[in-house]
Amino acid sequence: MSFMMENFWTKLQPGAFALAPMEDVTDSVFRELVMSVSCAGKLHLLFTEFTSVDGLCHPTGRKAVIHRFQVTDSERTLINRLKIKLIAQIWGSDPEKFYQASRIIADDFKFDGIDINMGCPVGKVIKQNTCSALIGQHELALEIIDAVSKGSGLPVSVKTRTGIKVHQTEQWIGQLLQSGLSAITLHARTQKMQSLYPAEWDQVALAVKVKNGINPTIKIIGNGDVDSWEQGTELMNKTGADGVMVGRGIFANPWIFSGEEREREIHEKTDLLEKHISLFDKTWGSSRNFSILKRFFKIYVNGFNGAAAFRAELMGTQNAGEALRAIEKFRFVSSGNPDYSSQSAL
Ligand SMILES: Cc1cc2nc3c(=O)[nH]c(=O)nc-3n(C[C@H](O)[C@H](O)[C@H](O)COP(=O)(O)O)c2cc1C
Repeated sequence: MSFMMENFWTKLQPGAFALAPMEDVTDSVFRELVMSVSCAGKLHLLFTEFTSVDGLCHPTGRKAVIHRFQVTDSERTLINRLKIKLIAQIWGSDPEKFYQASRIIADDFKFDGIDINMGCPVGKVIKQNTCSALIGQHELALEIIDAVSKGSGLPVSVKTRTGIKVHQTEQWIGQLLQSGLSAITLHARTQKMQSLYPAEWDQVALAVKVKNGINPTIKIIGNGDVDSWEQGTELMNKTGADGVMVGRGIFANPWIFSGEEREREIHEKTDLLEKHISLFDKTWGSSRNFSILKRFFKIYVNGFNGAAAFRAELMGTQNAGEALRAIEKFRFVSSGNPDYSSQSAL
């Protein structure tokens, strides 16, 4: 077992909350948006979308993936204000590529750490012997962790699952803990379970027990089905995890880290939607497809009379200007109309 230097993971206070890495979701825009309605001390860790080391190491491929590491100045301001750590997540299979990619990350960007994806269950990535296909490949996994650590000099973490077909938590986490990593995020499902079945948090408790027996300074972050601050805190207390990671729960409630659990008013939802569209437009312009934004509309436009029709109108828009005009129209039509008040929410 390697000796671990002090870093932000070793200093992480108990009760940490993380927003999960999510492809086409947790870009600079969405991270900023979530931070804009979060309160200091309620959100501690952010991750980029997963980014291919093969892409990063290839001159043309890099152009296709590099936006995943973009951090705008306004996002950086919020990161600093809320004292959040931002971690780059990468995936691949070849330790040499991990080494090169990690050097690039350390030289060209300002991330606090690097996370290695050993959890994605999607067929096209596991066919390449990457992500959750690495589960149980003890030697290759350790080589990769070592390559990232040497290439970047940054703290390294791994996000993984409990096994391939059945839980192998004890053995797999035990193997990972033999490396020089600083933290493990355990998504409490096997590869086979994808996200179709409830997360099994007793596996997180088991992982905590294993790491306490091997190296208590390494952090365990539990992940799976967390949809409120209270529930996350309860799960940490129950399992002994150092933190929890929120994935799809953010779609039901972007205010999860705000410190205020209540149903939001319609104007709060539409204001945040407007901010999201404007920020997306300002940050990406036409360089990214506007339709990426459409998956977010349901987050804000739900739970009130007229929501379905408003959403349908938004879904028909072709660009940011049209979507912003649809919001203006909704505000105009609904002003003074009692049907749109939160009291009559569906
Ligand atoms: C749209 C989407 C994209 C995702 N992309 C990534 C990714 O890039 N990297 C990763 O490690 N996990 C990714 N995940 C998995 C989540 O990080 C998380 O582990 C999973 O959703 C389980 O947490 P939850 O039950 O809270 O949603 C993604 C999940 C979703 C829904």
